[in-house]
Amino acid sequence: MGIAGCLVLPWKCLVVVALRLLFLVPAGVPARSGDSYLKDNITVRQGDSAVLKCNVDSKVSRVAWLNRTTILFTGSEKWSLDPRVVLLNNTAVTEYSIKILDVNLHDEGPYVCSILTNKKPESTKVHLIVQVPARIVNISRDITVNEGSNISLMCLAIGRPEPSIIWKYHSARGQRFVSEGEYVEMTAITKEQSGSYECISSNDISPPDVRTVQVTVNYPPVISRARSTGTPVGQRGVLQCEASAVPLADFQWYKEDRRLFNGLNGVKIENKGKQSMLIFFNVSEADYGNYTCVAMNTLGITNASIILYGAGVMHDVNSAAPSPLSSFHPMLILILFYLSRF
Ligand SMILES: *[C@@H]1O[C@H](CO)[C@@H](O)[C@H](O)[C@H]1NC(C)=O
Ligand SMILES: *[C@@H]1O[C@H](CO)[C@@H](O)[C@H](O)[C@H]1NC(C)=O
Ligand SMILES: *[C@@H]1O[C@H](CO)[C@@H](O)[C@H](O)[C@H]1NC(C)=O
Ligand SMILES: *[C@@H]1O[C@H](CO)[C@@H](O)[C@H](O)[C@H]1NC(C)=O
Ligand SMILES: *[C@@H]1O[C@H](CO)[C@@H](O)[C@H](O)[C@H]1NC(C)=O
Ligand SMILES: *[C@@H]1O[C@H](CO)[C@@H](O)[C@H](O)[C@H]1NC(C)=O
Ligand SMILES: *[C@@H]1O[C@H](CO)[C@@H](O)[C@H](O)[C@H]1NC(C)=O
Ligand SMILES: *[C@@H]1O[C@H](CO)[C@@H](O)[C@H](O)[C@H]1NC(C)=O
Repeated sequence: MGIAGCLVLPWKCLVVVALRLLFLVPAGVPARSGDSYLKDNITVRQGDSAVLKCNVDSKVSRVAWLNRTTILFTGSEKWSLDPRVVLLNNTAVTEYSIKILDVNLHDEGPYVCSILTNKKPESTKVHLIVQVPARIVNISRDITVNEGSNISLMCLAIGRPEPSIIWKYHSARGQRFVSEGEYVEMTAITKEQSGSYECISSNDISPPDVRTVQVTVNYPPVISRARSTGTPVGQRGVLQCEASAVPLADFQWYKEDRRLFNGLNGVKIENKGKQSMLIFFNVSEADYGNYTCVAMNTLGITNASIILYGAGVMHDVNSAAPSPLSSFHPMLILILFYLSRF
């Protein structure tokens, strides 16, 4: 601005030198007592306006405002080419204040109101501090990893004052504080650690900036439900198998070594999410026996045996009424069933 001013109005440059020699206290030079005093710092949010106040008395012969060592105003004459800097309508003779509109980060620093009274220089220095709301500028993408991997989550934020960063973990079981700082390291990650990780960046200038990273942990199927079922001949029968896995498991059904297919041999296979059902339209004696549910995904394969056994006549699996046989161990029932054939 100083240089630009010189190009437009060369004569001003001479005046600058004169002014500096005359009464300006350059920024950085320790203030001599009586000459200069530091007013309270002025704190303003980026984008807002700042008013820099300066009180003068009637004996003042010359006044000027400087940004560091660059002259903004001398008297009512504007030197700065920056349209954001304006001299206030100082109706009172004892005031010589300026206003900076749409303050940005570069405006931060010392401003000096310089006064010449009876050839004795004095200056008032104010420190303009610019605050910037916390904002997350870079954060890890959502990730999918296999169980046992090491991962690192990153969340970078800017702001003034320096924002603080905390991480919170959200899962089906609730919210939990994880850690403080830009990075979260997790070694040998488990499936229980999958979920949303929330990065909260704040510096009390405005509401915190919050973003989340979704962490998905792949793991091989674990069969969580495989109950043997008793069903009388002539009824609809259902064998259920449930496997938790990420990604979701694919299912296959076997009777002994024979694979069963949907729609063949009077059975239907219905898969829904983590559950697979082997449905018998009309159970016959030949259907009783030992079935295997196989659950697999990219990480592994597992199986469980499920027995379809004969149940007390007229007992309907779909009804809630307890059957006299329902408390029997399936193994015992199977033995009874085999014995009854001879
Ligand atoms: C004013 O701001 C400066 C620079 O940030 C700092 O060193 C100083 O302690 C502050 N003074 C007051 C009174 O807040
Ligand atoms: C400044 O004050 C003068 C006279 O007091 C008035 O006419 C003018 O409108 C004022 N300007 C602003 C920007 O307030
Ligand atoms: C103050 O000076 C700095 C550094 O030269 C400049 O970037 C900024 O725009 C100036 N601000 C004002 C309001 O003059
Ligand atoms: C975010 O950080 C990553 C890792 O440091 C870097 O590769 C990427 O370029 C950054 N993205 C942006 C938008 O700065
Ligand atoms: C994960 O980190 C641990 C401890 O830092 C290290 O021993 C292990 O080798 C790492 N595993 C992988 C897959 O990088
Ligand atoms: C089930 O099969 C038996 C014998 O094959 C037959 O008598 C009966 O009508 C069938 N029931 C249904 C509901 O299809
Ligand atoms: C069912 O078959 C599996 C192997 O295919 C076997 O381990 C299991 O003991 C059998 N269950 C019964 C009740 O026979
Ligand atoms: C079930 O698992 C056992 C042991 O992992 C394996 O030996 C058997 O072949 C599997 N059965 C089927 C039908 O996949």
